[in-house]
Amino acid sequence: MNKDRILQLLKNEEYVSGEWMSEKLGVTRAAIWKAVDALRKEGHDIRSVKKRGYHLEPPQDALWPACIRKGLNTQWCGVEIEYHDQLESTNTRCKDLAREGGVHGTLVISEEQTMGRGRLNRGWISRPGRGIWMTLLVRPRGMMPERAPALVLLAAVATAMACERVSGVEVMIKWPNDLVAQGKKICGMLLEMGAGMDGVEWAVIGIGINIKGNDFPEELQDKAGDLAGIAGREIERAALAREFLCQFERLYNQYCLGGMSAIYTLYRNRSITLGRQVRAICPDGEYLGVAQDIDEDGTLILETQDGERIRLRVGDVSVRGVMGYV
Ligand code: BTN
Repeated sequence: MNKDRILQLLKNEEYVSGEWMSEKLGVTRAAIWKAVDALRKEGHDIRSVKKRGYHLEPPQDALWPACIRKGLNTQWCGVEIEYHDQLESTNTRCKDLAREGGVHGTLVISEEQTMGRGRLNRGWISRPGRGIWMTLLVRPRGMMPERAPALVLLAAVATAMACERVSGVEVMIKWPNDLVAQGKKICGMLLEMGAGMDGVEWAVIGIGINIKGNDFPEELQDKAGDLAGIAGREIERAALAREFLCQFERLYNQYCLGGMSAIYTLYRNRSITLGRQVRAICPDGEYLGVAQDIDEDGTLILETQDGERIRLRVGDVSVRGVMGYV
């Protein structure tokens, strides 16, 4: 049992002292030493570094907190990172953390999800090594639930910027929060929240970024893509997760100081939906029209062929000329 906990602590920080681990786990230094020795015999590359402590050498492209934290200079975003090798869904775990009092800015990340969830009750393929499956917990102050979709639009801008910085590929946003590169969806987001009398108590923003060869099923092959395939180069996942945390914190702080309008401008500038002919599939039916605007609570305003303006809060749009819609 101790061995698993020790591995977890070693994945969390680049260097961990034996003394700190023994205090944290409530066991003797000798017990730590014994467990480390056993882990080494199992093949874990644990090094002892003078004055710094134990260091577990990560495999290439590891998504461990220790790798994400290297060079991370945020104040609150990602200050707590909970890593799992496998989880049903990072959103489900992050919701539990939110209800248990988890702090603003906590990130849950998993190498693999066995029941990854998408929007509109769909699933989300989340194989190990193929992408970044993560969920961020935020506790906005004084936000009414109907305004919460704005948080995921903010996350879409932050993720698009991070993907662009790390891959060099232009990344656009398809309403409400799909990221699209060279006409293929590379990322989706799922917002869930808990609210009380005073508004939103917590919101969890789940983000799935396809990074490499995600073996999409046939029906998705025209529509879905992966960032490394599109960029034609390797993408270091920990660097991308780190860049996302930086961008998200910057934009969220900007929103706290000056409201959403500057973020909406960034969102609109990246939108491949606005001004285009779209087909929207919504819970109450299907609409054809031109996407006119996205308002402050994330609603899409569509002008139909007979000149009627309709407001869509939830749904999926196909944009003419993008992802096989002609
Ligand atoms: C969509 O486009 O349908 C949204 C997909 C959201 C997937 C992410 S992966 C991390 C987080 N955990 C989940 O179960 N879902 C989100």
